[in-house]
Amino acid sequence: MLRFRLGLLLLWAVSALANDNLRVAYEWREMDFKYASPDQRWSAIERGEFKPANVIPFGLEVAGHRLFVTLPRWRDGVPASLAYLDLNDTSSKGPALKPFPSWQAHNLQEAEPELVSPFRVRADRCGRLWVLDSRISGVLEQTKIYGAAQLLVYDLHNDDLLRRHVLPAAQLKQGSLLANLAVEDSDCENTFAYAADLGSPGLVVYSWKDQESWRVQHHFFHPDPMAGNFSINGIEFQWDDGLYGLALSKPLETGYSTLYFHPLCSTTEFSVDTAILRNKTLATSPMIYREFKVLGSRGPNTQAGAEFLDPDTGVLFYALPNLNEVACWRTATDFSHSSQSRIYMNNETLVFPSDIKVDDQKRLWVLSNQLPIFIYDELYPGSINFRILTASVKEAIENTACEIRTSPLPDVINKLGDILNTNIKVRANSAPSLRNLSSLMVVGLCLLMGFRI
Ligand SMILES: *[C@@H]1O[C@H](CO)[C@@H](O)[C@H](O)[C@H]1NC(C)=O
Ligand SMILES: *[C@@H]1O[C@H](CO)[C@@H](O)[C@H](O)[C@H]1NC(C)=O
Ligand SMILES: *[C@@H]1O[C@H](CO)[C@@H](O)[C@H](O)[C@H]1NC(C)=O
Ligand SMILES: *[C@@H]1O[C@H](CO)[C@@H](O)[C@H](O)[C@H]1NC(C)=O
Ligand SMILES: *[C@@H]1O[C@H](CO)[C@@H](O)[C@H](O)[C@H]1NC(C)=O
Repeated sequence: MLRFRLGLLLLWAVSALANDNLRVAYEWREMDFKYASPDQRWSAIERGEFKPANVIPFGLEVAGHRLFVTLPRWRDGVPASLAYLDLNDTSSKGPALKPFPSWQAHNLQEAEPELVSPFRVRADRCGRLWVLDSRISGVLEQTKIYGAAQLLVYDLHNDDLLRRHVLPAAQLKQGSLLANLAVEDSDCENTFAYAADLGSPGLVVYSWKDQESWRVQHHFFHPDPMAGNFSINGIEFQWDDGLYGLALSKPLETGYSTLYFHPLCSTTEFSVDTAILRNKTLATSPMIYREFKVLGSRGPNTQAGAEFLDPDTGVLFYALPNLNEVACWRTATDFSHSSQSRIYMNNETLVFPSDIKVDDQKRLWVLSNQLPIFIYDELYPGSINFRILTASVKEAIENTACEIRTSPLPDVINKLGDILNTNIKVRANSAPSLRNLSSLMVVGLCLLMGFRI
């Protein structure tokens, strides 16, 4: 226990260097939509089709000049569950959203609505938007299932629907809820999508070329029973969610990528080579269990939500809902405390960081939505409830362990690490040269505090 605490203190010492320089780009008290006219908006509210208090943004993606937001139908009164704002329109910090691809696509009166309740979207490098639609509405009220979960792929040049893949019933289980998506798009013709089932832990792999999907099972997709406690801004609750965060590396020399993943209720990070997942025969055989790797634990209270790997820098960004924090790990280095850092932490603006992306302009985007308050309490419409924060990746990782540096670390810090006998090995190139004095002081302070524990 003591050793553990000391380790943690050191982590904070490293973290303390973070710049916390994300800025709020957009913020809303309540989400709003662009109706054809104010009259139409009012009649939608009167008819109960639009209940602003029931609309919460969950997933985000940036493609071209559009920022997409998913708005799952947790409750009724969500008029469109996928919408976007125009990044070029800077007239408002809380703009009304336009439904994607159209109002019609969200019409639940249709015999088979195009879109019901997507949690995540992903724009690939081939100009396509992948939408993972759970097709379950009202999970917090009256659950209605419109059909098996589906993967929709749109052409972002004209917003046409290119592909609709409804998951075969056998690939869904009792309690399935597909809420996260990663797309391996190094080859536009031979693209693969990975969908995480958090409700009945599993991974569904979809091949664009073969137009089929298969389900992969592994113990590492399951929640850790010891990591189900959450405490977020005074609200305490237990969750038991399985596979959640997914992040893909750039293609390796083999042409395949590494898929990093973690269950929501877990403090451990795992990985697997997509060569295993992409071969249907192999992926669905029980022989692959050894191919999955345990990277390590992030420490207590570090249940992680969404994650995303910036292909440019190889930095993995992940959300820590229990800490109102976004953190990073430079994947080129070992998965250890010293190779991870806080990027941003804020008890007001980052309550439940729900999604994280890096766009093709090297900008980091984070969406926070106060989800536990929405679920277990009530959002106050008079205060800012939803935010989208941004920074360039460069700014975000400046002065953190994820920054790519060249200057060596003063030997004395390495020695302190030895004295403390923690599991932390501060790497030779992982400290900022200009800040070596201040970091030394922080470590020294922790040393003092550590001895009092
Ligand atoms: C958006 O603004 C950028 C410059 O800020 C410009 O290059 C681009 O053409 C604009 N796009 C649209 C669709 O207006
Ligand atoms: C989770 O919270 C419950 C209730 O507060 C507590 O009894 C339990 O010990 C906690 N479990 C863990 C693993 O911390
Ligand atoms: C897929 O895996 C199976 C079993 O290991 C192997 O026999 C087969 O050759 C693989 N297929 C491809 C296309 O690599
Ligand atoms: C944020 O809240 C947590 C616990 O609620 C507290 O430990 C932490 O010090 C707070 N951070 C700041 C910067 O206020
Ligand atoms: C920090 O380290 C660099 C190189 O290791 C050294 O040149 C510099 O003088 C140090 N600065 C301080 C303030 O100790």
